[in-house]
Amino acid sequence: MALSRRQFIRYATGAGLGLGLSGTSLLGRERSPIDAIVRRASFSAGRAGQPLRMLPTHTDWRIIAGVKEQQVWTDAMTEVWTLGDNYPSPIIRARSGDKFSLRLVNNLTEHTNIHWHGLIVPPDMDGHPKDVLPPGKAYDYSFTVGQRAGTYWYHPHPHMATAKQVYKGMAGFFIVTDDEEESFGLPSGAHDIPLLIQDRRTEPDRAFTYLDAGHGGEPGAEEIDGHLGDEILVNGTPEPYLEVGAGLYRFRMLNASNARIFDLALADGKKFHVIGTDGGLLDKPYETGAVFLAPGERVEILIDFSSYAVGQSVMMKSLGFSGETGRKQGAEMPVLRFEIARAADTQYQFPTALATIEKLDPTLAARTRTFILRIDHTTIPEGHTINDKTFDIARIDEEVELGDIEVWTFRNISFLHHPMHMHGAQFQVIDRPSAPTLEGRDRGWKDTVYLRPFETVHLAVRFAPWVGKFLLHCHNLEHEDAGMMLNYAVVAKSSAPGIYAMPTRMDLR
Ligand code: C2O
Ligand code: CU
Ligand code: CU
Repeated sequence: MALSRRQFIRYATGAGLGLGLSGTSLLGRERSPIDAIVRRASFSAGRAGQPLRMLPTHTDWRIIAGVKEQQVWTDAMTEVWTLGDNYPSPIIRARSGDKFSLRLVNNLTEHTNIHWHGLIVPPDMDGHPKDVLPPGKAYDYSFTVGQRAGTYWYHPHPHMATAKQVYKGMAGFFIVTDDEEESFGLPSGAHDIPLLIQDRRTEPDRAFTYLDAGHGGEPGAEEIDGHLGDEILVNGTPEPYLEVGAGLYRFRMLNASNARIFDLALADGKKFHVIGTDGGLLDKPYETGAVFLAPGERVEILIDFSSYAVGQSVMMKSLGFSGETGRKQGAEMPVLRFEIARAADTQYQFPTALATIEKLDPTLAARTRTFILRIDHTTIPEGHTINDKTFDIARIDEEVELGDIEVWTFRNISFLHHPMHMHGAQFQVIDRPSAPTLEGRDRGWKDTVYLRPFETVHLAVRFAPWVGKFLLHCHNLEHEDAGMMLNYAVVAKSSAPGIYAMPTRMDLR
């Protein structure tokens, strides 16, 4: 008996229909709201849940964008849009220096493409929204993986549809390794675990329903805050737990949510170490009790479970940071429970020093630029602007010269959170005037930087090695789709490089 998704849901939610689907997993039992509330309360209290799913590795020479039914929650099927036939997408693995090629086949009924978030690739390989693929077509991506080891990722980037396609399931890790990284003896194999973290709404029919922010209409909460869920899925697992040994683990955490900011911490306050950010390992581990992770950002951490006894468990949660509850931004939420299930299986040495990182010298900046981030729904319909403009796919807003270092200032003059992301470059945070020192999460090579309401960040960036058109945008995907994005072009040097005087810190602010 073949059922369409809609029929299936109708049957599955109807009471007492003997469809012959075995067990309680797909029918009935957990579907009542009371059951769901009890189940969730018990997860929050440190019990129940389901084993964390491990992400598959992509091995095919093609990757297909398509739609399928997948069992995300235990009690129903969910229609997901996939890149690579799984929600979340499979992990792509490469070594620094590899020649990488992959054919994208678009089996969706709308345009799509792939952006390699964090990788610096030629402009026509970068998944710019002008380079989208109609349904039924294929496109060959090919580039050299020119960057150091790190936790990058990939997702679609079609104009005004990125948010929906990512929400429906299209996003995965792109993990790069190299010799330097391997020389540190960090936890590896089963002790090196990628965690793709996303919030989702628990709909009664278990759908990934994307409520369009309604661009151009009356701005609602959707458009202002972004699409926020009421529950956090890790690697596509609702209420996940992971059994670990009482030893050292490396976790690569990616915030692939549309709009949700996480402030990740262990519920008992135990400290851990940040060892890597968007563009790979840091110079050393940085101890912390909590780490902010905004959409688009990655952070790699080491957790040492050796202080726990076998049988104990500890919840990783997102701390509440704005006193909100429910599905609001800043609400406290459980993320992933670690269950210490056995003694340490492998002994890893805690590293003292890590990567050698070239420091971009801001005093060599050829120019400074300032980008004002603003929300104004009274004069501009879309209302999310960078320097008072919304995105125009054909317009180039900034021109930079190949090889130059520049100092860029992002100044958030709005009451919203904005993770600002650059394509075609990695940068280094110089400072965050609101904070006395740079935390681990701001160190190293970054491609996305999180700005809290009314915050300013200064960064140093160098444009190389590609000439062409790239994007700068807010990685709150609703903000991005609403136009909080611009094109900048890297152009070949016109004249002899002029080194301008370093602006004073006053100027920078
Ligand atoms: Cu991950 Cu332009 O984005
Ligand atoms: Cu990107
Ligand atoms: Cu934003």
